[in-house]
Amino acid sequence: MVKVGILQFAPVLGDVKANVSQVRELVTSNKRCDLYVLPELANSGYRFNNRDEVILAAEKVQSSYFLKELMQLAVHKNAHIVTGFCEREGSLLYNSSVLIGPEGLVGVYRKLHLFMDEKDFFEPGNLGLPVYDTPIGRIGMLVCFDWMFPEAWRALVLKGAQLIAHPSNLVLPYCQSVMPSYSLVNKCFIATANRIGKERDLTFTGQSVLVDPTGEYVLKGSIDQTEFLTVEVDLKQSDNKNITPRNDVMKDRRSDVYGDFNVR
Ligand code: ACM
Repeated sequence: MVKVGILQFAPVLGDVKANVSQVRELVTSNKRCDLYVLPELANSGYRFNNRDEVILAAEKVQSSYFLKELMQLAVHKNAHIVTGFCEREGSLLYNSSVLIGPEGLVGVYRKLHLFMDEKDFFEPGNLGLPVYDTPIGRIGMLVCFDWMFPEAWRALVLKGAQLIAHPSNLVLPYCQSVMPSYSLVNKCFIATANRIGKERDLTFTGQSVLVDPTGEYVLKGSIDQTEFLTVEVDLKQSDNKNITPRNDVMKDRRSDVYGDFNVR
């Protein structure tokens, strides 16, 4: 069994120290989890006015203050953490998700599908769709607006993901009600950690969710409160792809008719 904790809060725009404090407070004042999932761009906030603001807030993975602090928490709690991360590599910026474990950095995913003005600041992801085989289970990552593209979820599940961690800063009202369908048709767990609050002209929709392979909500957060949502789940449930005794929803796929994904 794996204890999953979703941190729903409002990152502060351009204030990495305040964001570390919020994460530290939520993690240390609640019961220990094996896996913590944080919102998108949790080190930086979201609603940038221009690229210069992003450059000021973005961090390199290897020298990030935010990730260094989270790595200390991961060691202290003997836990894994998935966090949205405003990433700079050279002169390029990425809207990333980072997986950390007690031994340090496990992997990075860079958001493939950029939303609205993100297209002015960030490069589209160039690291594919990795799935990480960790001691707590096989974890894939997507970021927020990636939700709109079922191909990405399918590709992660075909690569063996048992849980897809989904750091988000959702502003449209649809995603949280679509996730049960995605978890059912892919027979996997999905943990959408969405932020709350208002930043400049945007209001975020909260209601973080954890959904199981039967398409049931296991956790659902409020629309506007800082919350630590936690539950214990058996990720091995994701290995059973049967929807009836005679239907394995992966093996029954007719990729000979509609093609397959060039998964990398
Ligand atoms: C989003 O992708 N942050 C809506």
